[in-house]
Amino acid sequence: MLLDEAKEKLAKFGQEHVLKYYEELNDEEKTALLEQIEDTDFSILSKCSELGKASKRGEFSPLAAMQISEIEANHDKFYNLGVEAIKAGKTAAVLLAGGMGTRLGSDNPKGMYDIGITKPVFIFQRLFENLMDSVKAADNTYIHLFIMTSEKNNDATVKFLTEKNFFGYPKDKVTFFKQDMAPASDYNGKVYMEGKNRISTSPNGNAGWFSSMIRAGLLDVIHAEGIEWIDVFAVDNVLQRICDPCFVGATIDRNVSVGAKVVRKNAPDEKVGVMCLEDGRPSIVEYYELSQEMMDAKDENGDPAYNYGVILNYLFNEKALEEIAAKELPLHVVEKKIPYIDENANLIKPESPNGCKFEQLVLDMIHMLDSCLPYEVTREKEFAPIKNKTGIDSVESARQLCKINGIEL
Ligand code: UTP
Repeated sequence: MLLDEAKEKLAKFGQEHVLKYYEELNDEEKTALLEQIEDTDFSILSKCSELGKASKRGEFSPLAAMQISEIEANHDKFYNLGVEAIKAGKTAAVLLAGGMGTRLGSDNPKGMYDIGITKPVFIFQRLFENLMDSVKAADNTYIHLFIMTSEKNNDATVKFLTEKNFFGYPKDKVTFFKQDMAPASDYNGKVYMEGKNRISTSPNGNAGWFSSMIRAGLLDVIHAEGIEWIDVFAVDNVLQRICDPCFVGATIDRNVSVGAKVVRKNAPDEKVGVMCLEDGRPSIVEYYELSQEMMDAKDENGDPAYNYGVILNYLFNEKALEEIAAKELPLHVVEKKIPYIDENANLIKPESPNGCKFEQLVLDMIHMLDSCLPYEVTREKEFAPIKNKTGIDSVESARQLCKINGIEL
């Protein structure tokens, strides 16, 4: 992009400050900045006025989950179906590792965090160990693991896992791809700069994974390998079971577009997104969107009707994903800490949130699909998320849960 074109584009969106240091830059830096301006969608920044405002939702109704008792009663059928699918190479996994983990506050990718006590145990290591359970259940059929990174953490992630020899997992069964980035702004929608020649960007949320895979040319791999089911999961749950045969089998058996692992809520107002129907389609209602009436509602057994929280582990039918791939996902505005250069061009890493990032969320993908099976798992056995350093959903709580599950740290 030429300088004049860049000026025109920036003026259109009130972002002229991006070129403040342009004249100080060398040729290479100038080119890089102009390219970034060309690639950046500044139109999304006006959305920062939506921060904290509830988005308009449809009419909610309950969606029954497959409960543990039903899963146990059908265990052998589901397990065998799942193992069969894994052995036939029909399942793959996608690790969502593009996030910035700002709450944990480590400079490294979250998966590199060492939760060990007597020995190093990295989050990534735990995930590979868990994946191996499914591999072993299927007579050592290795499952293709796709790892989504972002421009910010890709090199560190690839280097770390290569050095660790993928914790013994065959490296030809691991494929990295990068997600897209979005500009980050202050509360008035003015884009931050993270360097004199660089606009602040952050990963654009965890829903972009399928379109990013397509852009990376991985649809060909999916087709060539005959992958029919993709288990998508978050990096930060160290008890995450991946391509768990029973879950795979139940989802196939029910012939749904997506299976969603869920846990029974601790309390009606627990801060988790809850599986439900919205205007008759599968959806997730956030805890702050639950009305008192919804919290009080009961199913035919007298149990709370909105009782199952999602844990970011979904098994998507690949064909169903292709059908929705062209659809535009909504953009959510989230308040985050965004590193930026101040008026003296010093890089500041804020201690508290200072602006807006723009993200697409997996839950919106679920709503585009026709059918979903919420599949209940035992929280203590499968859900140990690490979001914070201490307190709720922290390294401490995850260590405790690992201990309960006999995992040596
Ligand atoms: P979170 O919503 O917890 O975000 O991600 P985060 O970036 O890891 O952490 P905070 O909010 O900054 O503290 C849930 C999952 O989605 C992935 C994360 O890596 C994690 O596995 N994710 C999130 C992405 O892959 N890309 C994103 O842009 C955002």
